[in-house]
Amino acid sequence: MTQTRTYDDQNDGQKDGQKDGQRGGRNDGAPDGAGESALSVRDLWKIFGARADKVIGTPDADLPRKQLQAKTGCVAAVKDVSFDVRPGEVFVVMGLSGSGKSTLVRLLTRLIEPTAGTVTIGGEDVTKADAGRLRDLRRHHVAMVFQHFGLLPHRTVMDNVGFGLEVRGVAKGERRARAQEMVDLVGLAGNEGSFPDQLSGGMQQRVGLARALAVDPTLMMFDEPFSALDPLIRRDMQNEVIRLHHEVGKTMVFITHDLQEALKLGDRILIMRDGEIVQIGEPAEIVASPADDYVRDFVSDVPRSHVLTLRYVCRRPDGGDPGEGPALQADEVVRDAARQVLAAHGPVRVYDGEDFLGIVDDEDILRVVVAEEEAVGS
Ligand SMILES: Nc1ncnc2c1ncn2[C@@H]1O[C@H](COP(=O)(O)OP(=O)(O)OP(=O)(O)O)[C@@H](O)[C@H]1O
Ligand SMILES: [Mg+2]
Repeated sequence: MTQTRTYDDQNDGQKDGQKDGQRGGRNDGAPDGAGESALSVRDLWKIFGARADKVIGTPDADLPRKQLQAKTGCVAAVKDVSFDVRPGEVFVVMGLSGSGKSTLVRLLTRLIEPTAGTVTIGGEDVTKADAGRLRDLRRHHVAMVFQHFGLLPHRTVMDNVGFGLEVRGVAKGERRARAQEMVDLVGLAGNEGSFPDQLSGGMQQRVGLARALAVDPTLMMFDEPFSALDPLIRRDMQNEVIRLHHEVGKTMVFITHDLQEALKLGDRILIMRDGEIVQIGEPAEIVASPADDYVRDFVSDVPRSHVLTLRYVCRRPDGGDPGEGPALQADEVVRDAARQVLAAHGPVRVYDGEDFLGIVDDEDILRVVVAEEEAVGS
């Protein structure tokens, strides 16, 4: 991880407003049915290699990636992965280089064919779709934003943004009107006639965003779209995604190897290692209870007070709800709650909606802040 880590705008309010409607649901990755999911992935595998189809169902499938490769020459890039993404959710997939993120996202629209498993998008089983349906899906329902922008160099900004509509056969007038709307939306007005090489990296990626949005997809996928950008531009673009998500409310699958980006953008985060899921959870949940040392390593230098919510800090008092004193909601971030808790001169009650969860006092808050100081100092 080489990016400069920034937290200053983590709690800028935009994100919280956008998240409110999605709280209080399931926290696990694989709920019962695929019916209410925007995207549902079940038992998905991708094994590369000549004998790829002979691995699943044998004891070799359980071998660690390196051993499987040594024994069979096959690489298990994605290994028995299942999860669901809710409509309107920003679902982040993160992991170190080689953990299988790009392979996973390409399996979702079968840019790479799965070795086994199913993918359901908007209720349709993508893994059973024929070539025509698949084309339809890629043109109408899913748009991707790539790391290296993927713009057409000999086309202007307008014509790049309108490209997906052109492929779809939308008439020129309508196409231009829609493209203009998207150019305005991503803040590129005035650059309609420019060619990609006349734009900065950040502007080029805005074109990539506008192009993806132009087709009004139900699902947007991002594969490390900002990792080629320098840290300040990168932060602008992250805020841009948050703003756009707020305005257009698309379901997003966002891949990154940067934890700060994941924490900032994700409603939930899936952490991968060697093709497998290590943990799925809300940012605060991942920071509060990392599943293993791999995740603990990732989150060790996160300023906990910026991410942890009162849900993970409060404790049960003896004798239940004391019934008096100030009250706060469980999704309040510790840093934001600190002033009120410290001013309260006694325990503050924490509620999840109407439900009493526990109490926090100044010591609980200080414990988080002190742990943070220690992490930064180490
Ligand atoms: N076409 C292929 N043939 C063989 N192995 C592959 C192929 N594509 C990917 N792999 C292997 O699958 C594993 C996962 O690769 P993948 O590109 O999905 O990782 P990633 O998490 O996107 O990494 P990065 O952060 O570097 O982009 C790696 O070990 C990679 O070498
Ligand atoms: Mg990748």
